[in-house]
Parts: sequence; C-alpha cells; structure tokens
Amino acid sequence: MELALYHPQHGYYSSAIGKNIGRSGDFFTSVSVGDTFGLLLSHAIEKKWQRICPDGDNPLIIVEQGAHDGQLARDIIDALRLRNSPLYESMQYRIVEPRESIRRELRENIDGTLYSPRLYPVESLEKARAERGVFLCNELLDAFPVRRFVWNNGKWKDVCVSFDSEEGQLIESEEDVANGDGDFDRFLNLVGEDRDFPEGYVTEFCPGVKYWVEECSRLFENGGCWIVIDYGFEAEEYFSELRKTGTLKCYRDHRTHDDALDLPGETDISAHVNFTDLLREAEKAGLPGGALSDQSRFLTRAAESWLRSMEGQIPDAESAARLRQFQTLTHPAMMGRSFQVVEFEK
Ligand SMILES: C[S@@+](CC[C@H](N)C(=O)[O-])C[C@H]1O[C@@H](n2cnc3c(N)ncnc32)[C@H](O)[C@@H]1O
Repeated sequence: MELALYHPQHGYYSSAIGKNIGRSGDFFTSVSVGDTFGLLLSHAIEKKWQRICPDGDNPLIIVEQGAHDGQLARDIIDALRLRNSPLYESMQYRIVEPRESIRRELRENIDGTLYSPRLYPVESLEKARAERGVFLCNELLDAFPVRRFVWNNGKWKDVCVSFDSEEGQLIESEEDVANGDGDFDRFLNLVGEDRDFPEGYVTEFCPGVKYWVEECSRLFENGGCWIVIDYGFEAEEYFSELRKTGTLKCYRDHRTHDDALDLPGETDISAHVNFTDLLREAEKAGLPGGALSDQSRFLTRAAESWLRSMEGQIPDAESAARLRQFQTLTHPAMMGRSFQVVEFEK
C-alpha cells in the first residue's frame, strides 16, 4: 500500500497537481465539494485561537498535513481575508509535505500569488513547530498504509503481497506473524486477545497512527488545538463480526472496489480510521481528552455566525451555492455522519 500510494515516481500520490480528487478524478473529499468547508473551518479556527491566545499577541499559525494541492489552505486564507479577520495579516499557514517534488509543485503554485507571504510548504512536523498553533488534517489518516490480518484456524495471519514472477502478477499470501512484532501486539490489544472471529474474517490495522500522533503532539510548545477529520469507527464497530471483509477500499473514476492489487499506482487505496486507537495513542503521547463528534455537528457549530448573518434574507446565488455545499457536508446521508472530527486542545 505504501508503494502503491507513495512510490516517488509511480505512486498514486506522487504528484500534488494530479487529477485524482474532485469531479474529474477518482473520489470527492469535503475540500473538493467547494470552498464552504474552508470557510467553516476558518470560523472554527478563529474561535479556537481566541481560547489558545486570548491576548491576541501571537500571530495565528496553522499547520496542515495531507494538504494535497493546497486547496483547503487557500480556502481558509481567502475566508479570513474576505471577512477582514484581524488574524489574516500576520498569519502563517504551514503545509507539512515530506516529498521535495511535491513541495516544489506547491511552491510553484503559490509563488507570485497573494498566498505567497503566508503559505509555506515545510518538510516535516518538526519543521512546522511553533509556540502556539492550530493543526489540521482532512483525510490524512485514511491514506496511511495499513496491515491486513485474516482470522485463520483460531489465529491471526498477516496478509502479505509479493510478485509472482512466473505469472507476472502480484499475489496475496497469508503468513504467520513474527514473534516480537510490536505493531501486531498493539493490534491484538485493540482487537481483544480473547476474542474469536468467523473463519476468514479480515480486518486492518494502521501502525503509523502511533508514530504520527507522537510527533504531532510535540507541534506546539505552549498551547494548541488539533483538528483531525476523517472517516472511521471506534474499535467496537471497527471489529464488529458483521464487518467480515474489513474496510480497505479502492477508488478509481468514482467507482469503488476491494481489489487493492488492481492497477497499483493508478488507484486510490484507503482504510477507515480506528478512532479508539487514535484516542488511546494520543493520550499516551500527551494529548488527553480527545473529543469525537461527527462532521455534521462540528460544522454546524462552526457555521453559527455565518448562518446568522443570512437570517431573514433571501439567499443570493452565491449564498445559495454555499448552502448547497453546507448540506452536502453536513447531511447525515451525505458527508455529515460518515466523517468524524477528533479535537484535542492543550
Ligand atoms: C485522501 S488525500 C486528502 C487530500 C486533502 N486533504 C483533501 O481532503 O482533499 C490524502 C493526502 O494525504 C497525503 N499524505 C499521506 N501521507 C502523508 C504524510 N505523511 N505527510 C504529508 N502528506 C501525506 C497524500 O499525499 C494525499 O495528498
């Protein structure tokens, strides 16, 4: 999964400017629905900033990871600028992007625009560190490589991928898990050591969440907020016996399938986030008390002042378009319930 998504030349995400997200791509995200997502996040960020920095004596620092082509960054900056937010002038928006080629693409897109004094691609979370700030990611964790385990004769086996040189194709095999495999031990702890599953039951585990949250928790020295938006479940639902084939899904041309070996590098592969794992690892890393709410509730709270400003008015064409986007983002049958928001504050 790591190679298929992140190989420097052939990986699905080897370019930020590729057409993989949006109407002409393979799947939609809340960002590709339109700029209302950024507008609402800018309100949420403003409110958080007032709590983290009540004296208003620090410039607003936003750190985003998994920013793809930087569209959400531009939407948030535009929203702050257009409503003359006092935070706009001195703000800094740092995009964490480990790949040099993508940082270059992002810089080329930003140079010479009104974003260039405020928007900076940086190579790591460490390089994005600040005294205070707001961290943000949308659909980052579902794109982290996962391991797959299958329940076989009363124990878990590792689902491995190799290249069959005689057949000239990728194949899957089920292998014993090596002793002392710390990531597997964490998976066992999460799934429950004493549980039994139907034969052939498949599930996923994302080893990277632990290491990521450890790094991410060190971002802000003297106070910060973390907003993590993604789809997923808490452990009980994640490991429900009814979910026999796991959560791994592939996306191509707005069609979904389960064969992760089909057209690697040309297909998006993702797995649901296990929020119990995220909250536990965050607590261990010094970010206790994470709050989980669905995107509908989070964005509706953030939309309060924007919705009030339209009260008693017949919406013009722009407001009507925004309201349609708001509905797509918050309606329980659309993106409102499947997406969850985890917030940490320190
Ligand atoms: C599903 S896309 C979401 C893009 C965007 N946030 C949106 O909502 O439209 C996942 C993004 O995360 C990026 N990504 C994955 N791992 C990353 C990492 N360790 N650091 C920075 N970006 C990463 C991928 O390159 C890809 O752009």
